[in-house]
Amino acid sequence: MGHNVEVIKIAPHLGAEIRGVDLSAELSEDEFDAVHDAFVDNQVIVFHGQKINAGQLIAFGNRFGELSVHPFSPNQEDTPELIIFDNNEDNPPFGTDRWHSDETFRAEPPLGTMLSAKIIPAYGGNTIFASMTAAYDALSDRMQNFLDDMEAIHDMVLFRKLFGAGEDGLATLRKYEDLYPNPVHPVVRIHPVTGKKALYVNPQFTLRIKNMREDESRTLLDFLFRQAETPELQYRHQWKVDSFVFWDNRSAQHYAPHDYFPQRRYLERITIQGDRPFGPAGPTYFLQDNPEAGDAGNADAFGGHRANKRPIERETEKTA
Ligand code: SIN
Repeated sequence: MGHNVEVIKIAPHLGAEIRGVDLSAELSEDEFDAVHDAFVDNQVIVFHGQKINAGQLIAFGNRFGELSVHPFSPNQEDTPELIIFDNNEDNPPFGTDRWHSDETFRAEPPLGTMLSAKIIPAYGGNTIFASMTAAYDALSDRMQNFLDDMEAIHDMVLFRKLFGAGEDGLATLRKYEDLYPNPVHPVVRIHPVTGKKALYVNPQFTLRIKNMREDESRTLLDFLFRQAETPELQYRHQWKVDSFVFWDNRSAQHYAPHDYFPQRRYLERITIQGDRPFGPAGPTYFLQDNPEAGDAGNADAFGGHRANKRPIERETEKTA
């Protein structure tokens, strides 16, 4: 049938603008395949002039898989998969100004995230992306070999502060700890489609490297976290009204500066469910299921949090 999809590279290591597609209409199989290939190859794809409503956003997202529901973000009852970022003077942005790949506190973090811009500030409010495959590739062979079979413990750190210190807050926190026990992800993730290796630790959700001393882990993580900060590995997206971005959480990280506050910035977001990461170290597992779980490290360094050792129902992870 053919298609008119154009893919134009916009930065050296990640990022492509897609033209010739109307996201408010259903994409043909050929169009979908072209967009899907551009997505995995370029890690971040950008569309402009897409006037789409929440229903059309959800329908487009569904072409890529089931949508996930964020356990901590406020959402609408009838469309729990939709997150509205309506930030302004009365509602400051929360927690997105740190490098991260979305929701790595889950055993199966979302494979990708879509953001559709409706209201943008006069200045600021960009989103910066970094290619974590390029970050891995830039390391020496010796460092890559050193990292390849390492694993890291992730946690919902950022969201712990949403619960009060009182009895009710702690009880709710315990409930979420049961639903989201600490996953141990490979430090180097292999992309399930491209087969490329990417650094898969981030300052937002990664607590420590497993089987290392606390000071060793801290030093190594600090070094790895800095890799996303390399300007040459980045693409900085300047939003326009009706622009739309879809990024691959398996190979890219992002950082949204809060420099526009207190101006208003309104975007709609959905995430596509992902699979369990795997790397040269093997697939993700739960810290509590490993006989070495006692090696969770110094709890005080994690804000008093200790790895949850209670058994959990696996099914609950997706229904939260
Ligand atoms: C996010 O971290 O998912 C939000 C990015 C943004 O607000 O630009």
